[in-house]
Amino acid sequence: MKYITFNHQNTSAIGIGTWHLGEGNQAQTEAEMQAIRYGLDHGINLIDTAEMYGEGLSESLVGNVMKDYHREDLQLISKFYPFHATPELIKTSLKASLKRLQTDYLDLYLLHWRGDTPLSETIFGLEQMVQTGLIKNWGVSNFDLADLKELSNLENGQNCRINEDLYNIGSRGIEYSILPWQKQHDMSFVGYSPFGSDGSEYLNIKPVIKEMAQAKNISVHQLLLAWVIRNHDLLSIPKTGSVTHMQSNLAAIDVQFTEDELRLLDKYYPKPTQEPSLETI
Ligand SMILES: NC(=O)c1ccc[n+]([C@@H]2O[C@H](COP(=O)([O-])OP(=O)(O)OC[C@H]3O[C@@H](n4cnc5c(N)ncnc54)[C@H](OP(=O)(O)O)[C@@H]3O)[C@@H](O)[C@H]2O)c1
Repeated sequence: MKYITFNHQNTSAIGIGTWHLGEGNQAQTEAEMQAIRYGLDHGINLIDTAEMYGEGLSESLVGNVMKDYHREDLQLISKFYPFHATPELIKTSLKASLKRLQTDYLDLYLLHWRGDTPLSETIFGLEQMVQTGLIKNWGVSNFDLADLKELSNLENGQNCRINEDLYNIGSRGIEYSILPWQKQHDMSFVGYSPFGSDGSEYLNIKPVIKEMAQAKNISVHQLLLAWVIRNHDLLSIPKTGSVTHMQSNLAAIDVQFTEDELRLLDKYYPKPTQEPSLETI
């Protein structure tokens, strides 16, 4: 396993995404738990979930897996809805998430996306949860550059540890200013949906990807994931409910690109040349 510095900690090069896990029948849920276990047994040390995912089903599944592991060896991220972003509702949501996750703290608790609650109130509530020890740190998700700047100018806003945004070869907008800004401000970045989410419905796979994957003797998914983590400066959190796909994703960590290959991919999936509006799923 390769490790990167993420959230000031030694973190595996990929984490485990969990959207839609735990929503199927018992056999499917068992297979999904096996996939997560396989990842954890092979060095992955971060899991990403949210109260939204299956309205708690994902967190419950993660809790059932995690209880067999040393809690302190894992980083656990969960997220609350924007309509739960007041201090009182944050506390209620957090306690329900912790119960489902069968743990007494989160490593990171994120505002899932921005809603109507003033950010200052949300920060106040999150800082209170840090004081109680129920969370170690907090962050945000689906924030664009203007949101991040606004946040960092608020009292305790600089305590935001991470921002989690969409990032894959077809959605490179964050490379323009969000990623550099976060590096400058010591805020770690999580890129979600490396494959364009379920069924790759958000990603246009051009022939160059298939041809390059074939030439490198890897799968299209391995190429997509290896490309996202190519610079070892951000965390990607692929979701899979299958041991075979987890094996494939783990192997993708060792895939490298030549400068020519990266230039060719840039030609078909260009880097942003101006500030784009934030893409989300
Ligand atoms: N913060 C946010 O707003 C936000 C938004 C979206 C996602 N997320 C997080 O990011 C995670 C990942 O994003 P995502 O779930 O949207 O999509 P994703 O990871 O881009 O793609 C998941 C899809 O890829 C398939 N897959 C995974 N590994 C594969 C492999 N090696 N070969 C072939 N197919 C493979 C999965 O099917 P199988 O299960 O059959 O393998 C599933 O259909 C989420 O689970 C969630 O934790 C966060």
